[in-house]
Amino acid sequence: MTDSLTTSEIVLIRDSFDRVSVGLRFSRNYYARLFEIAPELRALFPADLSVQLRKLMDMLAALVQKLDRPHELVLALEALGAQHRDYGVAPAHFAPVGQALFETLAAELGPAFDDATRRAWIALYALCATWMQQSFPRERRA
Ligand code: HEM
Repeated sequence: MTDSLTTSEIVLIRDSFDRVSVGLRFSRNYYARLFEIAPELRALFPADLSVQLRKLMDMLAALVQKLDRPHELVLALEALGAQHRDYGVAPAHFAPVGQALFETLAAELGPAFDDATRRAWIALYALCATWMQQSFPRERRA
């Protein structure tokens, strides 16, 4: 099970995240896209998403900062995963969430979201999904 990314993946993720991380437009567009793709997930979230918008950006920024410290990254993801277990998140939910994330990145970054950058984000998301599910009950694991 992998817990780290390559140096070039880390650079691509950091550079691209820098371009989208100012303000809350990214997370607003992300949730709008997520609930288009998977409307059934809307009920898991609070009616008012304003606090969530900031929390998502702060968490993404924290994870991106830890990319070159895999041990810290994994600890943060395990803690985040335990929270998500308690929200009732299931492994099947990671696919639509990933799709919404990648599509929002593509829309925000345009041509800067090139193949190498997309692959780097997919690698990071796979790592997040794996470590976040560590504390999920067995019947809820992928
Ligand atoms: C890389 C993957 C993910 C990241 C970085 C992430 C990030 C976060 C963060 C930072 C929070 C706020 C936690 C807090 O209040 O302290 C949160 C809450 C939440 N997330 Fe995620 N999440 C991810 C994946 C998912 C997935 C796959 C789902 C499935 C639908 C999901 C559903 C939720 C829900 C329902 C909440 C609780 C909202 C609330 O009641 O306030 N997340 N997430």
